[in-house]
Amino acid sequence: MLQWSLFSLLVLHLSGAASLTVHGHKDGSVSLPCNKGIRENLTFHLTFGPKVAYGGKPNERFMGRVFESDDGDLIIKDLETTDAGKYTLITYGNGDPIYTSYEIHVLVNLTVRKGEELVFDDRPLEAETVERCKGTVCTEIWRSGRGVLNDRLTDSNGRLVIREFNSSDAGIYRVLNSTGGELVTTNVTGERNSMDVLKYYI
Ligand SMILES: *[C@@H]1O[C@H](CO)[C@@H](O)[C@H](O)[C@H]1NC(C)=O
Ligand SMILES: *[C@@H]1O[C@H](CO)[C@@H](O)[C@H](O)[C@H]1NC(C)=O
Ligand SMILES: *[C@@H]1O[C@H](CO)[C@@H](O)[C@H](O)[C@H]1NC(C)=O
Ligand SMILES: *[C@@H]1O[C@H](CO)[C@@H](O)[C@H](O)[C@H]1NC(C)=O
Ligand SMILES: *[C@@H]1O[C@H](CO)[C@@H](O)[C@H](O)[C@H]1NC(C)=O
Repeated sequence: MLQWSLFSLLVLHLSGAASLTVHGHKDGSVSLPCNKGIRENLTFHLTFGPKVAYGGKPNERFMGRVFESDDGDLIIKDLETTDAGKYTLITYGNGDPIYTSYEIHVLVNLTVRKGEELVFDDRPLEAETVERCKGTVCTEIWRSGRGVLNDRLTDSNGRLVIREFNSSDAGIYRVLNSTGGELVTTNVTGERNSMDVLKYYI
């Protein structure tokens, strides 16, 4: 058992795969655990791709949205779907800097009326595919470099649009990265009174 733990630690360390997935709702917040309690006087530098999210001079899009909580974690508030993806935290203390990776997964609930236009939130930069799932059956509906793959949808400046929503459009829409990890999960349901047919899907 101990040997296995040591082995796992070693593998995680060497491959740099010690990445923690955190889930948050759009407009809500996520907390990135930083183990600040372990030592005093640590400073943090959080990056999202080439953008600085915290520490130093943060990128405009993160300005005023990232802060340290009382128990020493980093909080990102007012989450947007474009915040989804890979983050790197560098912790500076007394010794060598420590690198930690996080994956932020954003959840969205959408309720739409029959006949209404449904505009999905902006896709994150790492988006490779979008699929729609009903029950366990998932169908790819968009792919980077190819665009929309389904005639119910159009693509308008990085946003998928369904012109006239009907019950067959309800389902779970998942935005995935290039290795199939979930970036954004949108639960699209029809407004109850506007659509009786929907109860067969949910
Ligand atoms: C942390 O910093 C404060 C103020 O700079 C200093 O007084 C304190 O001794 C430091 N603590 C440690 C553990 O280095
Ligand atoms: C979204 O829907 C799920 C499942 O119905 C629910 O647990 C969650 O609290 C909802 N989130 C928000 C932000 O409304
Ligand atoms: C939804 O719209 C599509 C395309 O217009 C149509 O094929 C389908 O039958 C409609 N579904 C329902 C349940 O109305
Ligand atoms: C895709 O997401 C998964 C799960 O969040 C993550 O483990 C993986 O490293 C990501 N892939 C890339 C290429 O960033
Ligand atoms: C999607 O939202 C509906 C309505 O809030 C809820 O009943 C259903 O459980 C949700 N599905 C998932 C997978 O969260």
